[in-house]
Amino acid sequence: MTVITGESKVGAAIRGEFPVFETTTYLNSCSQGALARRVRAAVETWLDGWDANGAEWEFWVERNEQARTAFARLLHASPDEVAVTTSVSQGVSALVSALDFSGERNRIVISEYEFPTVGQIAHAQELRGAEVVHVLPGGDGSIPAEGFAEAIDERTALVCCTAVSYRTGHRNDVAAIADVAHRHGAVVLADSYQAIGAIELDVRTLGADVVTGGTVKYLLGTAGLAFMWVRGSLLQTLLPTQTGWFADEDIFAMSIADYSPHASARRFDAGTPPVPSLYPSVAGISIVEEAGVPAIEAYVAELNGAMIDGLAEIGATVVTPRDPARRGPLVCVRSTDVERLCGELREQERIVTSHRDDNVRIATHLYNTDDDVARVVSALASRRQLLA
Ligand SMILES: Cc1ncc(COP(=O)(O)O)c(C=O)c1O
Repeated sequence: MTVITGESKVGAAIRGEFPVFETTTYLNSCSQGALARRVRAAVETWLDGWDANGAEWEFWVERNEQARTAFARLLHASPDEVAVTTSVSQGVSALVSALDFSGERNRIVISEYEFPTVGQIAHAQELRGAEVVHVLPGGDGSIPAEGFAEAIDERTALVCCTAVSYRTGHRNDVAAIADVAHRHGAVVLADSYQAIGAIELDVRTLGADVVTGGTVKYLLGTAGLAFMWVRGSLLQTLLPTQTGWFADEDIFAMSIADYSPHASARRFDAGTPPVPSLYPSVAGISIVEEAGVPAIEAYVAELNGAMIDGLAEIGATVVTPRDPARRGPLVCVRSTDVERLCGELREQERIVTSHRDDNVRIATHLYNTDDDVARVVSALASRRQLLA
């Protein structure tokens, strides 16, 4: 039985906010967080304002700043170090546009388990002189910091890693990777999409220089809103050439005479803020903040611990480590036929999961319960023939 201490709004205390649980065992927050009533209402608020007043610029800009300060709180950062973007892709593209790959320091080191967008953006820089080096996983499926250490040297401009792998659920040692990178003078990007909102991220200790993620998953918002934290001491040296008017030092000066990026991380913002995404996403983040990320992390660690134990008992191969310090909210289980297994879970059991490679991905969040865990373990037990 999972014990919830204090008044934290997790488990049964928050579940009523999410209608999906009336019919479904939702275990797919690694793809998209469940829709909360409050998030749906926020979309209505945006539409009502549009209907009544047309372009509500002040409210939109204010909501954009609410998102920036919420991201900053979640990351233990200053809002001046946070860019509000429309996707991880937009932020990372702007970041690499500020790096020069024409000289000796032209390498981008990425893990084999980067999300496709990071790998593709890295390889796009080959057109600008970059050389991309891949760090392969070790025997247990994690990307060890030692692998990064072998790949990083004086030619490395940028190192890309993930805080939590979307493919295996491993939590990576960002601090150890950053330590090596910094000794060689490289900038470190940690894609934290699979962590933000579910495990505590503190940019003061994480080690990375740039941290990105978005609102679709554990922040319970929509597509179209993301963030990029950039270490303040680096900002003045980074001049993005992929830019837009909301990155200017004075947005409403409306000048077309020069390029004058904002002194803060706003220089990585771009065009008109993603208004339809801001309303629901700010509402989604408020649910996460009310529960508190440390409480969510502790709760999810217990749920997933029970799930991994249950899966071990039925003889499943769990790719994600048992040690809570080495995993996040996602548990990956090997299957001989993932599409069939996920399809059967959805169609026959109303259990929503997802899959990557040969793994079923089962992700828990603040709204899941012991009951959800028991249901998915039992559904997998009765489909042992589809487990590898
Ligand atoms: C680790 C990770 N990075 C990035 C993304 C998405 O990037 P973008 O916001 O550019 O679509 C996802 C999921 O969609 C992800 O899991």
